[in-house]
Order: sequence, then C-alpha cells, then structure tokens
Amino acid sequence: MPEKIFIFDTTLRDGEQSPGCSLNLDEKLQMARQLDRLGVDIMEVGFPITSEGDCEAVRAISAEIRRPVIAALARANERDIDRAWQALKGAARARIHTFLATSDIHLQFKLRKTREEVLLMISRSVGLAKSHCPDVEFSPEDAGRTDPSFLVECCHAAVEAGATVLNLPDTVGYCLESEYEKMFAEVRARVPGMGGVMLSTHTHDDLGMAVANTLAGLRGGARQVECTVNGIGERAGNASLEEIVMLIQLRRDALPFATDIRTEELYASSQLLSRLTGVAVQRNKAVVGRNAFAHEAGIHQDGVLKNAITYEIMTPQSVGAPSNHIVLGKHSGRHALSKRYEELGSPLTKPELERAYELFCRLADRKKQVYDEDLFAILDEGFEHLPETFKLRLVQSVASSDGRSTAAVELEKDGQVFHDSATAEGPCDAAFRSIDRITGVPGRILDFTVHTVGLGTNGVAEVFIRASFDGREFTGKSTSHNVVEAAARAYLQSANKGVYEQRRALEAHPATVPVHSNKLTDRYFPGGY
Ligand code: KIV
Ligand code: ZN
Repeated sequence: MPEKIFIFDTTLRDGEQSPGCSLNLDEKLQMARQLDRLGVDIMEVGFPITSEGDCEAVRAISAEIRRPVIAALARANERDIDRAWQALKGAARARIHTFLATSDIHLQFKLRKTREEVLLMISRSVGLAKSHCPDVEFSPEDAGRTDPSFLVECCHAAVEAGATVLNLPDTVGYCLESEYEKMFAEVRARVPGMGGVMLSTHTHDDLGMAVANTLAGLRGGARQVECTVNGIGERAGNASLEEIVMLIQLRRDALPFATDIRTEELYASSQLLSRLTGVAVQRNKAVVGRNAFAHEAGIHQDGVLKNAITYEIMTPQSVGAPSNHIVLGKHSGRHALSKRYEELGSPLTKPELERAYELFCRLADRKKQVYDEDLFAILDEGFEHLPETFKLRLVQSVASSDGRSTAAVELEKDGQVFHDSATAEGPCDAAFRSIDRITGVPGRILDFTVHTVGLGTNGVAEVFIRASFDGREFTGKSTSHNVVEAAARAYLQSANKGVYEQRRALEAHPATVPVHSNKLTDRYFPGGY
C-alpha cells in the first residue's frame, strides 16, 4: 500500500512573494478555490504581518475554503504570531507556520544572535503559537546550511514546545540530494519525541535541484512536501507541484507513495495562475508547458500516431491539458462551448457564457478553427474580475521604421468617451503614451512579452505587461489578432488594477495612503470615488 504524501501548497505565500507574481485579494481567492479543486492538503496563503492585504487575504480564504488546512507564516516573535492567528482564526483547520534562521551565516550576519538566544526564541514562539492553535509548523530557515548538531537541538526545542510539523528548508537551493536526504534521516534518528511529528521538505531551485531534493527528502523520511504551482517562488522558484505529483503518480514502481491530488486539474491550475499573475508558463515546462505534449520531429510524430506510448509517458488528459485538436468552429453553439469549458475545468455561469460566446463568435468569424488555447485566451479577455475603470473602445496605429510610429486611442469611462494620440518609437509605445495622456498617469513598462496562441498562421498574439504606476507594479494580459490592440488592452488592464488597489487601500485606511500616491485615484475619481 503506497504511503500518502501530504501536499503543502505555498503558491499564495512563497510563490506570491516572488517578483512579478503579486496578487490582489480577489485573485488570491480565485487561486485558492482552484487549489481546493486540485485537492491540496494544506495551503499556505500569506504572511499576515507583511501587509494589510496579506492579512485580509488569509482571513477571507480561511472563511471560505473549509476542506484543506489553511496555513499562515509568522517570524518567531509575538507580533507576527498573534497577527497570523488573528487572520487564521476563522479557518475550519488552521496552522501557524513559524520560522527562524538557524545557520551560522544567518545567525552572524542577519540575526546577530547566539545559538542559545535562537533556541530560546524557538521554544517561546512555538509555545505561543501552540497556545493559539493545535497545529503548529516550525521551519529552521536555511536548515540546509545549518550545523547538523545545532539543527537537531533546534528541532528538539520546537518539538518540546509543541510543533506538529518540522519543515527543513533548503532555503537557498544549495543542497545535493545525498545531503538533503541525510539531514532528514539524522533529525528523525536524533530528535527525541518525533513520534507524532511530520517531517516536511521545502526546496528552492537555484541550482535546478528543487524537485530532485524533494524526492531525496521523502527518502529521508519526510511525508509532507512544500511546493508551488508552476514552481513559482523566491529567486529561481520553489519545487514545482505538478512535477512532484506526476513523478509520484507515474513512478509508483519505484516510489512507494501516493497523493490525493486530482491530476486532471493540474493544467487548469497552471493556466489560472499564469492568467492571474501575468507570468507566462515557459513553453517547455515539464507537465504543463505548451510543448509538453507537442511532437515536432517526424519520427516522433510517426511513433505517436502508431501508439502514443512510444513518446508519451503521460496523456494530456491525465493532467487536464488540451490535446491541441480542433474543437470548435463558427457553426458551434452555446451548448458546445459551455461543454468544452466544463471539460477544460472552467465551468461558466450563464452571464459568463454569454460573454464568452460573444467573444467566441467574433474570433470564429475571423479564424476557421478555434482551439482550446483560444478558449483560454477568451477567458483572459472576457473575465477581467476587477471593475474596469477605463474601457478600450478603439486603437489605430501606424508603424514606421524611422522611429516615428503613431497611435490614436479611444477610451470610455462611465459612458464618456476620451480620445488622444501620440508618437513614439514603436506603435505599442505610442498606444501606451496615448493612454497615459487620457488617464494622466504615466506608467513605466517593466516587462513586455508577446507570443502567439493557437496553431498555424491564424494564431492570436498574447501580450503580458508588467508596469509601474506611481511606484507600484501591476500586470496585465490580453490577446488579439492585432499585437498593438493586445498590448494596449494589457497596459490598460494594469493601470485599472492600480486604481482598484488604491481604492481599496483608501477605503481601508484613508490616513495611511501616501498623499502623492492619490494621483491615480484623484484623476479617475475626481472629488472622491
Ligand atoms: O525558504 C524558506 O526557508 C522559507 C521558509 C519561510 C519556510 O520559505
Ligand atoms: Zn522558501
């Protein structure tokens, strides 16, 4: 009988704190619902002391998502732990996850504390967390570079104070598999009272070892793994959830483990995260990348046509990925469209179906064949969950190779139409500057990615944008046959997110929003909002 491995998803904490991946409350809730559908055992959804937004997200998710354990992170001090508990206390099953660095490098240069002081802090903080909540996880940060004997002492202090889970992170992604496995075996053998305590892996991918090290941790005795969808996370990222889950699922012959993950939800989870963060999944990403099931070489295609098992170790269906066949065309009706969205893991409500159908008909008129990937693109286009402040009505552009491209833009807000135009190096830039002239809030582009969605010359352009408005970063994503239109929509989406966040901040704490950053709100909501 395979042993159950508990999947601890930290997409909404370690993942979300990585550059370019921040999510607002509504986006975090959407992702949490998908992680619930996916079947994760534990989801870590924030670090409440870091911001009011994080605190609010932990509170909202705790109130709504009742099946999995909901965890929140706290440093080993009273303020952090109390704040985490305040945010978590509405959860059906809550866990406080507290951490403190234990390597000599961190003690000397970051904490400036002695080993004795660190041991005392562990006992006190785990004890305090335990007084709030029976389920307490402790992480000795940088465990991978901690002196093994001191690591055993730290783990012992945590267990004595009531920790139910000991997570041993390779915080900087430095460990070799043999070292990581040995660390678990040693803690298991040398820490007294480990009977009811679960060991957990937490690995980073700085040297591309995160998934391999997770498996090493399992060999060493861990039964919980911490991971993220698409492997997002600090620096090079965390161990990828989909890779670990499919390894365990496919290699049962060599790995005596099982998870409760619904693998058919993996692709939908990956796509949703990419849509929400605006961070594209690399094409050759294992399990969920666009090319994961594409066979280009003639000899491979021939083999797959004869029997897929020749070159496919898993089917696209097993991870919920579209199999790239043509599904719908301009004669398809609402019913077929609705059914296909259900199959793709994104069931639509009636009004959503109406909106999707409208966009689908527009696309099907221009394109003979509509692929699953186009349907995902329609979701991006049609279901921007934030209230749109400005809507794009029209963009016209003239590109010139001499560096003087022009664009004219028409935006609508509350029934009023605004026009402007600008000249810039390229047509996209000219469209952005035209939008800036209307909104009065210049944005700075930090990241601009374009790729094609769908097969053949009929593919549509998908544009991701990360832009800074008034010092804060927001993302936008859009698709169109026209690259300039997709870029303008994506840019406008990021600006609209900025407005939305500012409104929420102002509503929650009018006094704490810096005066200079009221610019967006003043402009969009003159005289208030
Ligand atoms: O990488 C790390 O050490 C962490 C801890 C907070 C668990 O993310
Ligand atoms: Zn981490």
